[in-house]
Amino acid sequence: MIEFSGVGKQYGDGMAAIESLDMTIATGELTVLAGPSGCGKTTTLRLINRLEEATSGIVSIDGMDVRAREPTELRRSIGYVMQHSGLFPHRTVRDNIATVPHLLSWSKAQIAQRVDELIETVGLRTEIIDRYPHQLSGGQAQRVGVARALAADPPILLMDEPFAAVDPIVRGRLQREFIQLQEKVEKTIVFVTHDIDEAISLGDRIALFETGGRLAQYAPPADVLAAPANGFVADFLGGERELRRLALMRVAAVETEPGPEVTSDASSASALAAADRYGWSWVVIVGDDGQLIGWVACGDLIGGDSRIDEVVIQPFGQAVSADDTLRTALGAIVTSPLGVVPRVDGARGYAGLVTHASLNQKLA
Ligand SMILES: Nc1ncnc2c1ncn2[C@@H]1O[C@H](COP(=O)(O)OP(=O)(O)OP(=O)(O)O)[C@@H](O)[C@H]1O
Ligand SMILES: [Mg+2]
Repeated sequence: MIEFSGVGKQYGDGMAAIESLDMTIATGELTVLAGPSGCGKTTTLRLINRLEEATSGIVSIDGMDVRAREPTELRRSIGYVMQHSGLFPHRTVRDNIATVPHLLSWSKAQIAQRVDELIETVGLRTEIIDRYPHQLSGGQAQRVGVARALAADPPILLMDEPFAAVDPIVRGRLQREFIQLQEKVEKTIVFVTHDIDEAISLGDRIALFETGGRLAQYAPPADVLAAPANGFVADFLGGERELRRLALMRVAAVETEPGPEVTSDASSASALAAADRYGWSWVVIVGDDGQLIGWVACGDLIGGDSRIDEVVIQPFGQAVSADDTLRTALGAIVTSPLGVVPRVDGARGYAGLVTHASLNQKLA
């Protein structure tokens, strides 16, 4: 783990970027640092790899004071993605990515293979491999920076707004790839971002800083969203706090509501009776195999023993599955004329309705 104990950082002009920070970053977790511009996020990262030295207190990694480590050796074990990519301007993309493997004297073949692998991982095209940084777009340069930090597979990664310069679509893809990568390799990652949604979706924990590196709250995203420590945190999370909480919860976590349900070969009378039992004006229609077919409005059913006419069966516009987020479910609920969304679990088929009440219960 990485531990800050009573750490202060004063720059030469006497300005205290960090007043006194106590924080423990757990091994194998992704810790997000967030907070307003100038609150000390970059400084905190650079205290870990000794690009800055603390003016008071101790930064330690696995119990060892970083000052006891030789800086270059320390930095080879810590990948660092700088805030503005920080690529070496006189080196090609290939050579930038290969920086640490080269220092570690990997073989040429090993390095070439690793570079190809990483270009693919960060979603860059191989054509850019022999370009220089000034021939790249901002987003491409950032991704080369990420590839360079990952190159020698260091146990610790410090990432300073690594996806800030890429468009929302590519950013979303990089975030998903990054989550998968993290599930596989379990590095200790300290990740700075201004994007609160990115903080919530990537972080195992979020550290919210106020000016002077004061830790306003340090907790898992769900806890920060459910109970902001103070007004500063609440403001930072913004007006869509409840929606963001829903984005962290899965459909699997809520009870579905039962409702009137008949098979498509049932009679109109039995469908009407089923609706009546629940006091509803419509009925869910499923196949013999349990698959969802649609719904029928009671007003469209003629009484008697006639079968439900296929013509009157209406499709649900959208269904959700166990892995979807409750935010997706809410989107489907508000756009459905019925105000509900059916849950369908793959081959097992229809699994009940997700309603406003299910969401309310979960948020309460
Ligand atoms: N080399 C330096 N010399 C003097 N002051 C510095 C230096 N680097 C940073 N600072 C100051 O320390 C404070 C913290 O800076 P830091 O770069 O850590 O902020 P940050 O949280 O990363 O901000 P941003 O979100 O804008 O990147 C700021 O007030 C900044 O002006
Ligand atoms: Mg910064």
